[in-house]
Amino acid sequence: MEYFVKSGSPEKQRVGCVVVGIFDRRKTSDAAGIVDHTTGGAIGSVMRRGDMDGKLGTTLVLHNLPNVFADRIMLVGCGKERDFDERAYRKAATATAKALKAIGGKDAVCYLSELNVRGRSHGWKVKQATLATEAVLYNFTECRGKNAQANAEPPSIERITFDVPRRSDLPAGEKGLDEALGIAQGVAFARRLGDLPGNICTPTFLAGEAGGLATQFPKLKTRVLEEAEMEKLGMGALLSVSRGSREPAKLIVMEFMNGPKGEKPTVFVGKGLTFDAGGISIKASAKMDEMKYDMCGGASVFGAMRAAAELDLPINLVGVVPSSENLPDGAANKPGDIVTSMSGITIEVLNTDAEGRLILCDALTWVGENYDADVVVDMATLTGACVVALGAPASGLFSNSSPLARALSNAGDEIGDRAWEMPLWEEYQDLLKSPFADVANIGGPTAGSITAASFLHRFTRKQKWAHLDVAGTAWQSGGNKGATGRPVGLLVQYLLDKIAKRDS
Ligand code: BES
Ligand code: MN
Ligand code: ZN
Repeated sequence: MEYFVKSGSPEKQRVGCVVVGIFDRRKTSDAAGIVDHTTGGAIGSVMRRGDMDGKLGTTLVLHNLPNVFADRIMLVGCGKERDFDERAYRKAATATAKALKAIGGKDAVCYLSELNVRGRSHGWKVKQATLATEAVLYNFTECRGKNAQANAEPPSIERITFDVPRRSDLPAGEKGLDEALGIAQGVAFARRLGDLPGNICTPTFLAGEAGGLATQFPKLKTRVLEEAEMEKLGMGALLSVSRGSREPAKLIVMEFMNGPKGEKPTVFVGKGLTFDAGGISIKASAKMDEMKYDMCGGASVFGAMRAAAELDLPINLVGVVPSSENLPDGAANKPGDIVTSMSGITIEVLNTDAEGRLILCDALTWVGENYDADVVVDMATLTGACVVALGAPASGLFSNSSPLARALSNAGDEIGDRAWEMPLWEEYQDLLKSPFADVANIGGPTAGSITAASFLHRFTRKQKWAHLDVAGTAWQSGGNKGATGRPVGLLVQYLLDKIAKRDS
């Protein structure tokens, strides 16, 4: 797909489709009004017949309208004009992309990016529309058989232009477009890694994907720590999880040092559990297939690295992905086992299904010993409790630094990949007491995502650190099952904001 930003009049566009907005109670947007006028009231008469009343997310394609150059005019319902906020804009943009995918035209000019969204610039609108379109066009087909792949027909739409009201809006629109395209590459990459099944996407496979990134982007360097090195480093927590699996664990490190020399790196760490059966504390069978998504935190690190390289961001960025499987086995962790982490802290493994924190704690200690990081942010599908607390609208956000928490939360709001802060108070540490070891790997039945974050906090006290629990946001269940690519958008927006603030 090719994208452009332009400024021009809707009736003069010589394209397959022109997209204009209609507000609830049949109110035309400016662009729809112009088309209605030049066609002698064609839109008005369609609305009077009751085929389009402006309900948010509805679409209607009109053919053969007089006096316009476009083959089709697509009406997109935008809901009530006074309620047309960021959420409504994204919804209308997504509906547009779905409808454009289904038409026969090769190109389209979209005027939704001219609509007023309170407090949002034209750059923001172009960026959001591009991200929404790219999200709709993502299609995971690589595990279909050869015949199915050969017979699949791509959508005919090839070019989309977003219109901005004035020529002076073009630079902002183009900046939004460029940022969106870089982010979309990262999001799609993370979604693909998430959607790949556990028998293909193993720790070794992920290490190979890092190598692939390094080949594609010469400024990106990668190295992989093998189990023997982890052994030497004393990563007893990470290795205890991997012991129950035939797939060797990997600690994947990616460096993209493209910022000013001497600037402390931003470090992203992601849980790369390529399949989580729970281990001896085995999970129930229902929906266990979804535990292939337990590497989505790691996938978001890959996605953010990819986007940063794609956008050539002037920043020093490090990505670290501890990767393992968690399976039942004679050599697996048993409830009550005590392991010694790289930090020296001993851990009583009361539940072998709380494995994410075991692999992350050693990765976080390793980061602390190997980098003088500006900030460390980890992403993990860490707790079912976070899904209960926040559902799909927001990732759980925990931090020992309020400026960092604010920056991440603002970035999420800006890009539409939100996070909501939860407490990391010391009171919660009491829930992790063990009678035999320094700490237990689970708390009681209450505050599950907070105790998980509090466990990680024991290993990140000396760093400016944040943790995003993406258990409810990284993938969707049900009929539309699939990875979402979250929180790649939040992470890359955080980097963009950080660069803009530094350079201002
Ligand atoms: N990967 C899971 C968390 C998870 C479960 C994410 C379901 C999304 C949906 C994690 O490793 C896990 O099993 N956590 C346990 C922790 C518990 C044993 C304290 C959980 O949430 O049940
Ligand atoms: Mn688990
Ligand atoms: Zn897990």
